[in-house]
Amino acid sequence: MTEPGTETDAGLVVPPATLGARVRRSPWVRRSPQFARRWVRQVVGVWRTSLRVRVLATTLVGGWLALSLIGGFVAVRTRDGLFEARVHQILAESARSTARVQSTFDASSVTTSAEVQQLLYDVTTEQSAASTQQRQMVILRGADDNLVGPRAVASDVSAAEAVGASLRDAVAGGGQHWQSVALPVGDGTVPGVVVGQSTTVPGVGDYQVFFVYSLQPEQDRLDFLLRTLGVAAVALVGLLAAMAYVVTRQTVGPVVAASHVAARFAQGHLDERMVVHGDDEMATLARTFNAMAANLSEQIARMEELSTLQRRFVSDVSHELRTPLTTVRMAAEVIGDASDTFEPALRRSAELMVDQLDRFEDMLADLLEISRFDAGAATLDAQCADVVAVVRDVVETIEPLAERRGSRMVVWLPEEPVTADIDPRRVARIVRNLMVNAVEHADGTVVQLDMAADAQAVAVRVRDRGVGMDADQVEHVFDRFWRADPARARTTGGTGLGLAISAEDARLHGGRLEAWGRPGHGASFRLTLPLYAGTVPKSSPLPLVPAGHEPVRRARPHYAAAMPPLDPETGSLPIVPDPTEADR
Ligand SMILES: Nc1ncnc2c1ncn2[C@@H]1O[C@H](COP(=O)(O)OP(=O)(O)OP(=O)(O)O)[C@@H](O)[C@H]1O
Ligand SMILES: [Mg+2]
Repeated sequence: MTEPGTETDAGLVVPPATLGARVRRSPWVRRSPQFARRWVRQVVGVWRTSLRVRVLATTLVGGWLALSLIGGFVAVRTRDGLFEARVHQILAESARSTARVQSTFDASSVTTSAEVQQLLYDVTTEQSAASTQQRQMVILRGADDNLVGPRAVASDVSAAEAVGASLRDAVAGGGQHWQSVALPVGDGTVPGVVVGQSTTVPGVGDYQVFFVYSLQPEQDRLDFLLRTLGVAAVALVGLLAAMAYVVTRQTVGPVVAASHVAARFAQGHLDERMVVHGDDEMATLARTFNAMAANLSEQIARMEELSTLQRRFVSDVSHELRTPLTTVRMAAEVIGDASDTFEPALRRSAELMVDQLDRFEDMLADLLEISRFDAGAATLDAQCADVVAVVRDVVETIEPLAERRGSRMVVWLPEEPVTADIDPRRVARIVRNLMVNAVEHADGTVVQLDMAADAQAVAVRVRDRGVGMDADQVEHVFDRFWRADPARARTTGGTGLGLAISAEDARLHGGRLEAWGRPGHGASFRLTLPLYAGTVPKSSPLPLVPAGHEPVRRARPHYAAAMPPLDPETGSLPIVPDPTEADR
């Protein structure tokens, strides 16, 4: 063989790739495991998803198995029965024929060899013709001391060959004996029976008389019966399949219809009902389903009505409260203006009243806003505005609160303006709520605001390092009226509606508001808004989870390319250095 890269006699250089190339298999052979796998997957899929296919297949296989067992049993029993009856008949007929042969021998007075031969011929011819059955006769000389008559006379040569030595020995011992044999016919054989008995020609000696019966008619009858059974079995299996198909249509059909109705109901078509036919189990199921559906839709309608009533109540009450509140506010302002002349205790009460009135007004505004969202009346007053400017204005308004709370604010804003289709009032409200929340929960630590934009979206992230939240709290943080600890000492806000409104505001823009928190490590809220109205950003320009708090990824095991040699000193595998260590 030519080495790769060497020159052959013909002056050709054998390319190494050619020598080492693997035998190319045809694409079909290469893909056949895929085909097989796909085919198996499809069959399993159909089996799992179609009750009709399962019932049909089970009926067919089960029916075929049962019929094969019953057919096999019937065939064996019939064959044995036919055989036994025929052998019984053959033995009786042979005994009678042998008795007649013996009486013919007894009546004869043969002495010479020719006479004996003639007698045997006559008997053989007579007995072969006497039976209506297909039988041959064979007469064999019984003992060797008889030297007068012929050794054998047979109506057919092949019949003589069918007589076995064991049968001859048995017959020599006396009595009637029989044996099953295979008789040659053409190229094949047919089953047969040989019956033998000893007779005596007076003055000459013993002759064994054998009758060879062919069981061809019985075999034909059995074959016909088996053929008929086979045809009947195929017809029966076909009938079973047809019956199974009809039965599954009758049972699976209503089930499919029921599941269709149930699916439509689950999609919110609460008027969907099943058709009730007759009085059977399916009708009972349909009636029960319909009753359940009616009950459910009634309850849903009642709850919707209740919810609408509640929403209207909240909205009406908020509206109604505005008028008296305005009056109270005016009165409070008058009192507030004159508070310098009050004694200290009264002045403090006046200040408290003004504070609480502010909170009251904020709450009322929040409630009205929420009821507007619920009523679907909230609309986005979108305009092309600079988000940086909006955020900067909010940050400025928060500074005094941060100072009071002892928190330093670190704000990273893009140097260039970021214009987007936003409702500045709503965006300012979201950022303000996030900032106020952060300052309130920062417990005097730094509150950081980051802002970044990409081609599709702009993100504002507010991060604090205060009390933080656990996973359960993060899950509920956007719920209405939810507060992690309502008993916390608070300076501002406090209804637990701020984040719910902020989330609705973000959604109205086509954006989203997300939260992260860890107890003792602070919280992070990220607002992502699309730059263009009508689009939904898929990703955000800023990560929500602060650096160092990313979810821990499971370390992949490192596999060495080959098993390293054992350490000669310890006799164990050497410690492989951690590959990630090197990167650090
Ligand atoms: N930065 C944060 N750190 C820890 N918990 C927070 C933070 N921001 C919000 N929360 C939790 O989420 C709750 C809900 O906040 P949300 O802004 O909706 O209501 P609120 O601030 O209590 O009242 P308001 O309606 O005046 O805003 C807060 O009460 C607080 O428990
Ligand atoms: Mg708040």
